[in-house]
Amino acid sequence: MTDSDFISGLPKAELHLHIEGSLEPELMFALAERNGVAIPFASVEDVRAAYDFSNLQDFLDIYYAGADVLRTEADFRDLAVAYFDRAAADGVVHAEIMFDPQTHTARGIAFGTVIEGLLAGMAEAEARHGMTSKLIMSFLRHLDEDDAFATLEAARPWLDRIDAVGLDSSEMGHPPSKFARVFAAARAEGLKLVAHAGEEGPPEYVYEALDLLDVDRLDHGNRSLEDPVLTARLARTSMTLTVCPLSNLKLCVVDDMNDHPIDRMLREGLRATINSDDPAYFGGYIADNYRAAAAGRALTRADLALLARNSFLGSFLPDDTVAQHL
Ligand code: ADE
Ligand code: ZN
Repeated sequence: MTDSDFISGLPKAELHLHIEGSLEPELMFALAERNGVAIPFASVEDVRAAYDFSNLQDFLDIYYAGADVLRTEADFRDLAVAYFDRAAADGVVHAEIMFDPQTHTARGIAFGTVIEGLLAGMAEAEARHGMTSKLIMSFLRHLDEDDAFATLEAARPWLDRIDAVGLDSSEMGHPPSKFARVFAAARAEGLKLVAHAGEEGPPEYVYEALDLLDVDRLDHGNRSLEDPVLTARLARTSMTLTVCPLSNLKLCVVDDMNDHPIDRMLREGLRATINSDDPAYFGGYIADNYRAAAAGRALTRADLALLARNSFLGSFLPDDTVAQHL
């Protein structure tokens, strides 16, 4: 069996995936036409050529613009179904997907339109592939905490269908502390908590995510490695890191895949996982991320199996279900 087949065949969970970041240019064009929305690109090739980023903000500007073609419940369903079909081909048996409601409600799209479409896509994934999934509602950190509170309120009728809240968008200048109250309110509703931290931001932001937000999982977390005390704490507490190698490369978090710290994370005893973040923008789905990391850092099959095992251990599945996947 080739390494590539080994990776695709490895049952795995995806824990860090922005559903809006799975919008392929072909679907972007199809939805633009279906909804009569103008997009500033002449062709699919034009869109792909624009995906040349030097930092997180470069990417976010294009990512939010692309989401404008998503208008109806059917659009969100089609987006989700396309992602789940692709993930199933990569051996994903469980996915915990993020969505950014504020990106849509700010454009006048009702919260219910977004979530009902995504829930329909999740039901279809279960029917087609037997794939289970959970929803993570992410707050945009460049907006203020009142806006996040309003989003939590808009989500109230669907809270039993949402497993966790998250924190994403522009990290620098928007530390986790800005959202301490809304995260406490989400916890009081029984939701799990995740946050992007240490992608571009310093180790201090990771400390804040742990100490002020009390997160159950860290998205990215790369820069934690700059602080040995923090690294040891993450290892000791079995904190899951949802690492995204191709994203790190495209957003210049690392200069080269040969410099990616994924193997160092494993060596330090961190519960690292591999995920795709925004696969339509970063050049690959989850198996491509495993392959790129494996090639860049000479990961063994035992390393790859450990990464997949970590993805179930770090999931929000109940313990008995996790045990069935190990
Ligand atoms: N939103 C979508 N992808 C993101 C990322 N990698 N970091 C922060 N916010 C995001
Ligand atoms: Zn992300």
